[in-house]
Amino acid sequence: MNQKIIIAIDGYSSSGKSTLAKAISKKLKYKYIDSGAMYRSVALFAIRKKIFDSDLWNTRNFISILKEIRLKFKWNKKYNQTDIFLNEENIQSKIRSEKVAAKVSLIAQIPELRDKLTTMQRNIGKNKGIVIDGRDVGNCVFPKSELKIFMKGSIEIRSYRRYQDLKKRGEEVSYEEVKKNIIHRDIMDTSRNVSPLKKSIDSIEIDNTFLSIDEQLNLIFQLIKNNHIII
Ligand code: C5P
Repeated sequence: MNQKIIIAIDGYSSSGKSTLAKAISKKLKYKYIDSGAMYRSVALFAIRKKIFDSDLWNTRNFISILKEIRLKFKWNKKYNQTDIFLNEENIQSKIRSEKVAAKVSLIAQIPELRDKLTTMQRNIGKNKGIVIDGRDVGNCVFPKSELKIFMKGSIEIRSYRRYQDLKKRGEEVSYEEVKKNIIHRDIMDTSRNVSPLKKSIDSIEIDNTFLSIDEQLNLIFQLIKNNHIII
């Protein structure tokens, strides 16, 4: 009998984590959890609440609004994807903006928020059979996951991919702005005190600067086979 596992994918901003995670989850018929979407949803909520507009912005103000936030993932049949809902509103397309990207790493440093989202992620994954991507999933959320991947890629390729993505969505941004945001988020995410982005010793590193998605998928299934991981 097949036994379901947890596949944890961490890595730098725009390193192709979600593309790979979605492809693996499709092949294995596993649930896909985009933990970044959860942090982005909270950032969108905080922007709407004008939390960042005030000179008085501090984490204490922010913590008081945390209890107003309810997040849920729901399957979208039409687009064959999982959408995220904030208090019953589908915000899947709204969380990808550069406005959200500019603020998300700021709130991702707050321990109370990380606790709340970590609990939610563990709940979704309690029966295993998930592929989850983020920054702290291998080290903190699911430290016992059976397969851990750490993704990286050159800053140029990551910025270019993200720039193309945003252009497709109709956002007016320059390549240089996108690159600046990615560098900024990498620094914030690797240097924060609570569960920073860090390669765990038991994760397998993939540099996908020159790898297609099919090559990455082949690599993953080779790893599963070589390590005798039962899926
Ligand atoms: O993965 P994505 O780029 O959508 O994540 C957006 C931001 O959310 C990251 O730059 C990081 O600040 C935060 N994040 C996090 N921990 C996670 C997932 C995302 O801190 N597990």
